[in-house]
Amino acid sequence: MSGFFITFEGTEGCGKSTHIKKLAARLETEGHTVRTLREPGGTDCGEPIRKLLKHGPDSVTAETELLLMNASRAQLVREVIRPALKSGEIILCDRFYDSTTVYQGIGRGLAAEDVQRVIDFAVGDTRPHLTLLLQIPLETSEERLARRMGTDRFEQADRTFFERVERGYRSLAQKYPDRIHSINADLSMNTVETKIWEIVSNALNRSE
Ligand code: TMP
Repeated sequence: MSGFFITFEGTEGCGKSTHIKKLAARLETEGHTVRTLREPGGTDCGEPIRKLLKHGPDSVTAETELLLMNASRAQLVREVIRPALKSGEIILCDRFYDSTTVYQGIGRGLAAEDVQRVIDFAVGDTRPHLTLLLQIPLETSEERLARRMGTDRFEQADRTFFERVERGYRSLAQKYPDRIHSINADLSMNTVETKIWEIVSNALNRSE
């Protein structure tokens, strides 16, 4: 019995967490055991790292960010993801290594080879089977961020950073078309939910 690993990606405010909850509920009603996770964090070791990354000092460098993200990830992979997959669970993870490729690599400007090496060390052969990339226009993301209470270190970045992040996601989706499915998340909640279900149920059927 081996499980199925699905990751969700996208810019701030794209609706990942809402759709993860909806998908988890639907999968559970179909009899699956589902585990929802988020990165960074998700373990006793990773949660303090998440706090540091999101609310730590401005002096945190891009290199430190890369290593901390992947320290949290290395722990999550070994403590939670691998055992859960081994026991046949479906994992829905809010962000995974594509976020690092895009935010630390393309956003912060670290060399792609360095970023890839650190990711590979952190995850080994634990890779998502399927990735759903929820896409919304930058303006929508900005409007949703403006309505949120308080901001973290990432949300304070300037517009050009998020333009790079958006472009980064688009080029990743082109590079890995079998794994990464782009979804227009600027449509009604029901339309997006239906699309997600169509992609996930097809992928699960194919994996059986
Ligand atoms: P969120 O959980 O509220 O989306 O916050 C996580 C923030 O961390 C988000 O702005 C994206 C950023 N992030 C990275 O920069 N690199 C990563 O590898 C991950 C997982 C998240």
